[in-house]
Amino acid sequence: RIQKIQAREILDSRGNPTVEVDVLTASGFGRASVPSGASTGTNEALELRDKEERYGGKGVLDAVDNVTTIIENELLGMDVRNQREIDALMLALDGTDNKMELGANSILGVSMAVAKAAADSLNTPLYRYLGGVNAYTLPVPTMNVLNGGKHAGNELSIQEFMIQPKGAESFTEALRMGTETYHALGKVLEDKYGASATNVGYEGGYAPPLEMTSDALDSLIKAVEEAGYGETEITLGLDAAASEFFDGENYSIDGKLLQPAELVDYYLDLIETYPIVLIEDPFHEESFEDFAALTSEAWETIIVGDDLFVTNVERLAKGIEMCAGNALLLKVNQIGSVSEALDAAHMAMRNGYSVVVSHRSAETEDTTIADISVAIAADLIKTGAPARSERTAKYNQLLRIEEDLGDVARYMQL
Ligand code: PGA
Ligand code: ZN
Repeated sequence: RIQKIQAREILDSRGNPTVEVDVLTASGFGRASVPSGASTGTNEALELRDKEERYGGKGVLDAVDNVTTIIENELLGMDVRNQREIDALMLALDGTDNKMELGANSILGVSMAVAKAAADSLNTPLYRYLGGVNAYTLPVPTMNVLNGGKHAGNELSIQEFMIQPKGAESFTEALRMGTETYHALGKVLEDKYGASATNVGYEGGYAPPLEMTSDALDSLIKAVEEAGYGETEITLGLDAAASEFFDGENYSIDGKLLQPAELVDYYLDLIETYPIVLIEDPFHEESFEDFAALTSEAWETIIVGDDLFVTNVERLAKGIEMCAGNALLLKVNQIGSVSEALDAAHMAMRNGYSVVVSHRSAETEDTTIADISVAIAADLIKTGAPARSERTAKYNQLLRIEEDLGDVARYMQL
């Protein structure tokens, strides 16, 4: 039973305040902290910020206060294993559609800390507590090794260029293959564009001073080769985060303005030319029709809805109905509680959609998403480059989970 809930303001990887929550029971302890986006979707649950002068208006003392007063008052004495009941109670306390009253950051912090306290009190690893006997599959990491868009100070429209070590036997080996390729990419970029091209963006990927999508992809292909791998072992993926280069009518990319139908052709061309197996947010966040058009033309490609679905079952249901995309990006803070995020994952899977568990561009040392990815047997996990501790924390947790599972561990085959 919950004896105490504490909360505090800590810093995320961009140096902005975020919420950390501790939940204490007689036999368990859980601590969780909340991530934050830069290319945030309009339909995401609301992140409560103080709007006072301190930290440039980004303080979260109000959210912290909501945890230690309103939420703690209500949750004291409850059994931490009643995750759904606890989450539902917080939703009711908030009473709004987008958690604007208490803040998704305060609710999610408590929700994740409750799950961890429950796992701890049962002496069970979090992935097994959430996933039970079916939690034995490690996701394929889709590693963001080259940054553009809002995540970097360069001219690339596409936000993320990712690699997937598909041809690995285990997660441990996949991580090594991806990391070797990351380092090879650093060398390729330095040789071609100079040392400053290996400066990194928000998610630890290199942020070279490029403008053209093809220049970034050519460098990636070269890196895969230099690392000694082939196109079937390491494949490529993009997160266009296209809302960020859409002006309401056209998409601005590679020095051109493209209409939605032209952008469909643009992507089809990229898929023909490069070993691209995944494209996230190819169109802006309300363009269900354009997603459907691309999905029907590129049905073998994983078309992921991030800002489109915002981990929200209502938006996902609309997407499923329209055949818009074929994969869900799962970001716990887009929806703001563990049980709602699990609901979205299950809806996706029941309808044949893949699930990609994801970090945010501002992260903390919290590794909950690594455990969630195994708990739900997600197809992929996206948690940045294999560099910067807030990114490697998740990958390292997956190494520990694979070790803990031992012989029964399985690496996801896409
Ligand atoms: P964000 O970016 O965390 O800045 O929103 C990640 C993404 O778009 O997938
Ligand atoms: Zn995205």
